[in-house]
Amino acid sequence: MQGLRRKFFYNISVYQVGSQVASSLHESIGRSTYSTRKVFDAGQPTAATHPQLLEEGEITPGITSDEYISRRKRLLELLPEKSLAIIASAPVKMMTDVVPYTFRQDADYLYITGCQQPGGVAVLSDECGLCMFMPDPSPQEVVWQGEIAGVDAALDTFKAEKAFPIRRIREILPEMIGKASKLFHNVKTALPAYTDLEAFRMATYDGKVKDLSRFTHEARWIKSPSELKLMRQSASIACQALLQTMMFSRTSPDESMLSAKVEYECKMRGAQRMAFNPVVGGGANGSVIHYSRNDKKIRDGDLVLMDIGCELHGYLSDLTRTWPPCGSFSSAQEVLYDLILETNKECVNLCQPGVSIQQVHDHSVEMLCRGLAKLGILKDDRSSSQSYHQLNPTAIGHYLGMDVHDCSMIRNDRPLQPGVVITIEPGIYIPSSFDAPERYQGIGIRIEDEVLITESGHEVLTGSMPKEIQHIKSLLNYGNGGATELRSMRAASS
Ligand code: GLY
Ligand code: MN
Repeated sequence: MQGLRRKFFYNISVYQVGSQVASSLHESIGRSTYSTRKVFDAGQPTAATHPQLLEEGEITPGITSDEYISRRKRLLELLPEKSLAIIASAPVKMMTDVVPYTFRQDADYLYITGCQQPGGVAVLSDECGLCMFMPDPSPQEVVWQGEIAGVDAALDTFKAEKAFPIRRIREILPEMIGKASKLFHNVKTALPAYTDLEAFRMATYDGKVKDLSRFTHEARWIKSPSELKLMRQSASIACQALLQTMMFSRTSPDESMLSAKVEYECKMRGAQRMAFNPVVGGGANGSVIHYSRNDKKIRDGDLVLMDIGCELHGYLSDLTRTWPPCGSFSSAQEVLYDLILETNKECVNLCQPGVSIQQVHDHSVEMLCRGLAKLGILKDDRSSSQSYHQLNPTAIGHYLGMDVHDCSMIRNDRPLQPGVVITIEPGIYIPSSFDAPERYQGIGIRIEDEVLITESGHEVLTGSMPKEIQHIKSLLNYGNGGATELRSMRAASS
């Protein structure tokens, strides 16, 4: 172990006992033992700093360094021989001069390294394994930003085979590029630190440089058991948070308060952040698919559509429910809700290995067109497929994982396989100006579930969140607002 590199490690205090017996006793007592040893700060939770979150050997809660090593091996197997892959971390976006927006790591970089922090470039090849170029912050930068992962963390926490300060990339990377017959890089996070290198430019000129995402998305498409555990937990947090928010909406029918409530409930259950800005659309705002203003009161009798998800240790959830905070559906809302619910349930039931998102989508379009024509919302003529797209321009769903629209390089007509997670989210968005019976105008409804494809069919990861009209009505009318019953219902669902 290099002396210098070790300088931050195990600054063992006078309290530590030195004998063999004492040290095995220390190990058997485990991580709760009192110790004043200084623990290495890798700039993110580790088993040493956050024993409540991570076991020894894990880089991410539930994901071991061995799993990261096999991810890298698999990615190299997918790439042509003698390839070099370059993956930069996500850039830090500034709000103003020295004040950054909340940082979110690029999913490909996180998948390959486990490093949640900015400033690094990971390089992968059969010859060198994982080589990480890491930030080397000045003491002044540490004063402002705190500890961040550097060369020590790359070697000891992320288990890179080699690591260098980022300032040495210009000296070291050209030779690695020169030895490669093909070069792949993460185009989304490309950085002048390597794209400006003469060797990279020459390789581009020679047509040797390609986007890496086709291969990373391939590797990320099927989730491992430990990834699925985090996906289940993320979905469960989103369900509990949305259920609490649904009940809260009875007394606070206000878009911004519902948005705040769901974010609070997710974070109090351990989520690091929301998966995307929550969509909280009251009345006609529910027809704006990615509505983000969330700044209106919800009128009595209107529906509210909430599309939310959270991120748990890099894994996302995505869930939508629509309900009337006042506790009762109008008959127009109810028939439309029924159509979307039946479409949701039929589409979920189609999910199994061998079926594609595209096939499920086609079925949903057929079913919704038929239902909307029956209700007199779509005219049964040749323009109806065009009108349908005015009422629902979205696909039935998407892959879900470390990004909300995950693995977007994988086509929707690819037959699904066990371990893939998708969403099923039929909806209807009727603008107030749409030529339909007035009672349907300005209604937006979406019901979205997360579906894991299994060997025998599927499992609904968001199955605990009510969607039947009767269940929603019972929840919203429980005790007719009686405070005691409401409190016990909230407690039961938390
Ligand atoms: N729930 C966000 C989306 O699917 O686009
Ligand atoms: Mn979605």
